[in-house]
Amino acid sequence: MTSFTVTPPSPNLALNQLVDRRRAAGDRLVHLAFGEARLPVLPQLAEQLALGAARASYGPVAGGAGARAAVAGYSTRRRLPTEADRVVLAPGSKPLLMALQLVVPGDLLLPRPAWNSYAPQAVYAGKKVFGVPVPAECGGIPEPDALRSAIRRARAAGGDPRLLVLTLPDNPTGTLAPPALIRELCALARAEDLLIVSDEIYRDIVHDPESTAFLSPAEAAPERTVVTSGLSKTLGLGGWRIGVARFPPGDTGALLRDAVVAAASEVWSTLAGPMQQVAEYAYAEPPEVVARMRDSARLHGAVARAVHRIAVDAGAHCRPPTGGFYVYPDFEPLRPLLAAHGVTDSASLAARLLDDSGVVVLGGHLLGDDPHALRFKAATSLLYGDEQQQRAALRAADPTRLPHIAGELSQIADGFARLTRPRGAS
Ligand SMILES: Cc1ncc(COP(=O)(O)O)c(C=O)c1O
Repeated sequence: MTSFTVTPPSPNLALNQLVDRRRAAGDRLVHLAFGEARLPVLPQLAEQLALGAARASYGPVAGGAGARAAVAGYSTRRRLPTEADRVVLAPGSKPLLMALQLVVPGDLLLPRPAWNSYAPQAVYAGKKVFGVPVPAECGGIPEPDALRSAIRRARAAGGDPRLLVLTLPDNPTGTLAPPALIRELCALARAEDLLIVSDEIYRDIVHDPESTAFLSPAEAAPERTVVTSGLSKTLGLGGWRIGVARFPPGDTGALLRDAVVAAASEVWSTLAGPMQQVAEYAYAEPPEVVARMRDSARLHGAVARAVHRIAVDAGAHCRPPTGGFYVYPDFEPLRPLLAAHGVTDSASLAARLLDDSGVVVLGGHLLGDDPHALRFKAATSLLYGDEQQQRAALRAADPTRLPHIAGELSQIADGFARLTRPRGAS
């Protein structure tokens, strides 16, 4: 038998299953290891899903004209003028990211840390991955000099870096890259002839959109940026699998789109018809969708900031979150104390939190970060409780004071505090 390309199962999905098993066995866990925006489905979207049930034909691979026009309108309203023929829909943005990696030649430049699926996708696509560290003030993207050096090092090592993935706002750090830095990176991408994939799946969950400047690389380098996004995070529809990509204008953009559509035609054929009905409705941004995006961004911001405060109070460094629903604490300041308890890297840190306090996090080593660092990702979007509690959280002036959320926050605070206490001490 020949050998296969095998990467370990996606660590966030694997941890999610572990949590289900341990909860079924009676463990009280605080689950911070899965980036699902768990919020009730808007009834109007459920209605569209039912209305779309009759759409049982395959339809065009890139998506129907109505859904593509709606996504083009959405992008155009975000300073990205878009023709419908530049839009491709798919069952989630993950397959679109995979297809891009399959059809774009060369190797991948990736911020360290980064969302856990980009690197394994690159491996499946036969690419090498070259990591570039991300300083705290950069909002989850590399600093240009570091990127330039990484490109030189990659070439010297026989690599051919051609693709740069940026995530705005960033998963895992929960921060957003400043526009000036985006411009500099785009200039470098142009000089080095890199294609940028700008993963903007958290764009509509910037916590305070009024006072936060968002610049898409597709504005600064329109000819070489593909934007991917979807409804999994913004509208809490991860399981419905609705993803989109916006391709650059011009001939090269058209060729790239055709290549992705060709890959799609061999792998997923098209986005399910009922989901196209939902996408067409949601991307037109009717009032209830706009209101849900606003309310959920406020909720995600309030809870992420509360977890950030808990991490800082426990003695960690932590970048203040400004978008999405993640914080990325660094317990380096506590290294000597932690070492005294056998915690010396991100794996032992995550294991200690789980074993002693039932707090489940994703160690930074699973996100391409330095395994010796004491960092982890905490996803804060599963703290909103059951459906009724989620509705209350969306309405609350201060959701962190609702008893069910406050209870989870205090278990997290206790878990972080216990890290430096002798084992067994209460
Ligand atoms: C940064 C990022 N990109 C893409 C995805 C994939 O989203 P989907 O395939 O549901 O569109 C996720 C989901 O966790 C993510 O965090």
